[in-house]
Amino acid sequence: MRPLPAAELHLHIEGTLEPELIFALAARNGIDLPYADIGDLRRRYEFTDLQSFLNLYYNNMAVLQTEADFTEMTRSYLGRAAAAGVRHAEIMVDPQAHTSRGVPLENCINGVAAALASSETEFGISTELIAAFLRDEPVDDALAVLESLLAMEAPIIGIGLDSAEVGHPPRDFAALYERAHEAGLKCVAHAGEEGPADYIRQALDLLQVDRVDHGIRCMDDEALVERLAAEQTPLTVCPLSNVRLRAVDTLAVHPLPRMLERGLNVSINSDDPAYFGGYLDDNVARLLETFDLSTTQLVRLAENSVRAAFISNERRRELLAEIQQWQSEHAPAAESPT
Ligand code: HPA
Ligand code: ZN
Repeated sequence: MRPLPAAELHLHIEGTLEPELIFALAARNGIDLPYADIGDLRRRYEFTDLQSFLNLYYNNMAVLQTEADFTEMTRSYLGRAAAAGVRHAEIMVDPQAHTSRGVPLENCINGVAAALASSETEFGISTELIAAFLRDEPVDDALAVLESLLAMEAPIIGIGLDSAEVGHPPRDFAALYERAHEAGLKCVAHAGEEGPADYIRQALDLLQVDRVDHGIRCMDDEALVERLAAEQTPLTVCPLSNVRLRAVDTLAVHPLPRMLERGLNVSINSDDPAYFGGYLDDNVARLLETFDLSTTQLVRLAENSVRAAFISNERRRELLAEIQQWQSEHAPAAESPT
């Protein structure tokens, strides 16, 4: 079955570093990894919470040094994403995770941007770049990096907020988002992954975000669900990530079907696919194994992703037409014309 065409809106490019590439880049850059071999590294992909993942995620970034390293990582994601049905990707990068290690901002931004510049011709995927800031670092640090990005005219469409959530509420970053809005950037933020529903409210009211990354904890707050449904705020949900980081106990109890029933504007995304057991197509396949999702619901999820993307209306129409085409190929026999 041809993969469902969709936009991927919640993807950390550093979370696409596969163990094989980690070892290859380490060898190229003369970096000693604290793992015996690829198997040893893979066996550490057992997480108890967000922080246990972040520790490994940041450690593995040590292999990213040159502009070419960032380009190779990004191209490798784009190749895999194309096979997963991704037709448009809005990719987050964590500049502070590199500058804090002494890697120049240019290596990171120019390296990723070089791969994105040819993503349409090479992979048929349109792309945008989002600079995500680390909420467990001071807001002044984030502001300084944002000013550097603006000064170098980095090809970013927006900003995001990620890393350890609990204890680092959106309100602490109001000044960063004010600056981003003033600079004409789109704004997204992780909220309600491990943190409470109130962090989602703060992201909406204090950061004025265009989308919420994750947002699953909204289900604890009935009034918030009603508001998100009424305002059709996009929520970029990452089912396999939520299972692997223990934000939910099992996929079977994941709130996605209930979120759809409540009319929330949810899409499916892979977050850190190299770490969480799969790319966009794997997330869709596992959802289909677990839930009785109809073709109509799958199509709704893909359409939501395209409607929530930061793209031109022309590109939006193209992608919605591709989804319609997929639906006509996959409609159940009873629904197809005879
Ligand atoms: N949550 C928060 N921060 C992150 C994640 C995540 O899933 N992945 C990379 N940084
Ligand atoms: Zn994320």
